[in-house]
Amino acid sequence: MSSPRRILVTSALPYANGPIHLGHLVEYLQTDIWARYQRLRGEDCTYVCADDAHGTPIMLLAQQRGISPEQLIEEIGRQHREDFADFLIEFDRYHSTHSEENRQLSCGIFEALSEAGHIHRKTISRYFDPVAGMFLSDRYLRGTCPRCGAEDQYGDACEQCGATYDSSELVNPRSTLSDTAPELRETEHLFFRLGDFTDFLRQWAAHGGVQPEIKNKLDEWFEAGLRDWDISRDAPYFGFEIPGSPNQYFYVWLDAPIGYMASHLNLCRERGFDFDGYWSADSEAELYHFIGKDIAYFHTLFWPALLHGAGYRTPNAVWCHGFLTINGEKMSKSTGTFIEARTYLHHLDPEHLRYYFAAKLSPDISDINLNLDDFVARVNSDLVGKVVNIASRCAGFIEKQFGGRLAERLPEPAMFEDFAAAADGLAEHYEARRFSQAMRDIMALADHANQYLSQEKPWETVRDAATREQAWEACTQGLNLFRVLVIYLKPVLPALAARSEAFLDSGPLDWEARLAPQLDCPIQPFTPLSTRIDPKSVNAMIEETKSASAPPEPERSDTLPYEDFAKVDLRVARVAEARLVEGADRLLALTLDLGDEQRQVFAGIRAAYPPEQLQGRLVVVVANLEPRKMRFGTSEGMILAAGDDESTWLLTLDEGAQPGMKIR
Ligand code: MSP
Ligand code: ZN
Repeated sequence: MSSPRRILVTSALPYANGPIHLGHLVEYLQTDIWARYQRLRGEDCTYVCADDAHGTPIMLLAQQRGISPEQLIEEIGRQHREDFADFLIEFDRYHSTHSEENRQLSCGIFEALSEAGHIHRKTISRYFDPVAGMFLSDRYLRGTCPRCGAEDQYGDACEQCGATYDSSELVNPRSTLSDTAPELRETEHLFFRLGDFTDFLRQWAAHGGVQPEIKNKLDEWFEAGLRDWDISRDAPYFGFEIPGSPNQYFYVWLDAPIGYMASHLNLCRERGFDFDGYWSADSEAELYHFIGKDIAYFHTLFWPALLHGAGYRTPNAVWCHGFLTINGEKMSKSTGTFIEARTYLHHLDPEHLRYYFAAKLSPDISDINLNLDDFVARVNSDLVGKVVNIASRCAGFIEKQFGGRLAERLPEPAMFEDFAAAADGLAEHYEARRFSQAMRDIMALADHANQYLSQEKPWETVRDAATREQAWEACTQGLNLFRVLVIYLKPVLPALAARSEAFLDSGPLDWEARLAPQLDCPIQPFTPLSTRIDPKSVNAMIEETKSASAPPEPERSDTLPYEDFAKVDLRVARVAEARLVEGADRLLALTLDLGDEQRQVFAGIRAAYPPEQLQGRLVVVVANLEPRKMRFGTSEGMILAAGDDESTWLLTLDEGAQPGMKIR
C-alpha cells in the first residue's frame, strides 16, 4: 500500500465581528466534506482555520460595545466555534490571527521580505478624521463621485456609474464615523513590491493553481501590471505593530493568510508534528485553500508572493466557490433570508443543509442558490425518501422476524459489486469537488436499491413459509446496499453515518469497507436516521430571522456610546466681543475666536453676565453644531454653561489654554 498523502486544507478565516451565516457555511461545508472524504480514504488530511481578528471594524465594534477588542474576539470566537461544531465541521485546529504564533510568523515573513528588498516606504496622502482621531479607509468615506457627480458614494468606487478612483479624488468627502469633513494628511506607509513577483505568479497560475475563470482574471491583472501593495496602517489600529515602525501596524490582510500557518503551527507544537515539513520550499505535502471568489486577489497574488518571497512553499491550488443566494436573491435582512447559522439550528437539522449544499456544489465559481421549497423537497425525497427508506424497509423485518441477524448470503452479489464499484467514479468526483455529480450518482444507486426491494417485496414474501428465506436474504441485500451508500455519503452526513454504524453494528466504516458485505451477524435495533422536513420549520426560521433583524426598539440607555460622544467637537474659544442683542433681552451675541477662525454665537446668559465682563474670557464651544438661523442672525455653535432656574455659570478655562484647542 502506498503511504498516505499528506494534505493541509484551509477555509478562509471568518472576521471576528459578526456571526456565521448560511453564506459562510457554503465554504466551511465544502471544505469539511472534502477533508472528511480524504480522511475516509485513509489520507493524512489536516483541516485548519481561525478567526480573522484584526482590523478597524473589529476595533470600532469593540469601542461601540464598550469592551476591549480582545474581549470581543474572544466572545465571537467562541460563538464561531460552537456554530461550526454544531454543523459537524471538524477542524483539526481552530485558532485566531491574534495569537503569538501569528505575530512571530508575520514579523518573520515581513523581515525576510524586507531583507530581500521587497518592502519600501512611501509618503502618501490619506484622509484623516480629526474628530475620530484616525485615518479613514475607503469604507468610512462617502462623497460625490468625481466622474458622474452622484452623491453619497464610497471612497473607492461609484455605485451609480461604476467608476473606481482614489479616495483623494472624491468631491466633498465626509467621514462616516463623525459625519464631518476629513482632511488630507501625509503619512508614510510600507509597501510590498508585488510587481517583483509577476513572472513567478504567472508560472504558479499556469501550473494548475487556479480554476480557469480565475486564471482569466489573473491574466487581466498581469496585463494591467501588478501594483505595490500598501501593507501598513497607522495607529489607532487593532493588529500587530510592525517591527521597527512604532505606531504602524500590519494591514489585516497581511497577517490574515499567515493565520493559516499560525493555526497549523499551534497544532504542530501541541502534537509534535513537523511544521517545516509542510511549509518549507521543497515540501511534498499538499496545500489547498478553499475561499470565496471575492477574496481571490488576496489569495492568488499577494499570498503566493508573500510565501515565495519569504522562502516558503506556495499552495498547490486555491479553490474559489461562488456566493450563496437564497430563493434566487442576495441574502437580505428585510426578506428574512440573512439567515444565521444559529437561527437555522433552532429549527432545522444541520445535515440537511450539508446534503443540500453538497447536491448544489460544483468546482466552478458560479453562485449557489438555496431555494427553500427545493430544499424541503430535495431533502425529503432524496435523503428520507430514498436513502433512509432502504434501511427502514429492511431493518424492521430483520429485527422482528429474523432475530436481529443478517442472512448468510447475498442473493444478488453482482448487484452488490456494482454498488462497490461505483467508488472509483465517486472518488474522482469528490476529489475534483464535483459534489453535485457525486450526490446524483449516489441517488441513482439508491433508486436501484429501492427498485430491487419493490420487486422482491419482502413484506409479502415474509408471510409465506416457502419464501421466508427469500425475504430474509432480500432484506440482507437491501441493508448491505444501504451500507455502501452510507460509506459514500459519510463525508456529507457524518451523523447519519454514525447512527447507521451503530445500528448495523459495523464499527467505523471507511472507504475500503464497501468491498466486503456484512453477513451472518447481529445488528442493533433500528432508530430513525433522519426525519422529513416540515415546511413550517423553514417558515419559522425565516420569521425568526426577520424579527431578529427588525430595527431594535430604541433602547432606553443611560450610557452614550463612545463614538457618539467623540462626534462632539468641543473647543477652546476666546470671547473677542460680546454685544447686547436688540429685541432679545436674554441673549448676548458673542464673537468667538477659535484660533484660526471667528464664529458668531448667541448665548442666553445676559442676565448673569454683563457683556464687558466677558471680553477676553476663555470659554468652551461646541464647534461642530449645525448652524442655527435665528431672528437676529445665524448662531454658529454653542457655549457651555451650568444653569438652573436662578442663574447661569459659564464653563471657563484657566489661562494658558489656546483658542482652537480640542477638549478631550
Ligand atoms: N477575513 C476574510 C478572509 C481572510 S482569509 C485569510 C473574510 N472573511 S469573511 O467572514 O468575510 O468571509 C469568510 C469566507 O466566507 C470568505 O471566503 C467569503 O467568500 C465567504 N463568504 C461570505 N459570505 C458568503 C456568501 N454569501 N456566500 C458564499 N460565501 C461567502 O473574507
Ligand atoms: Zn459616478
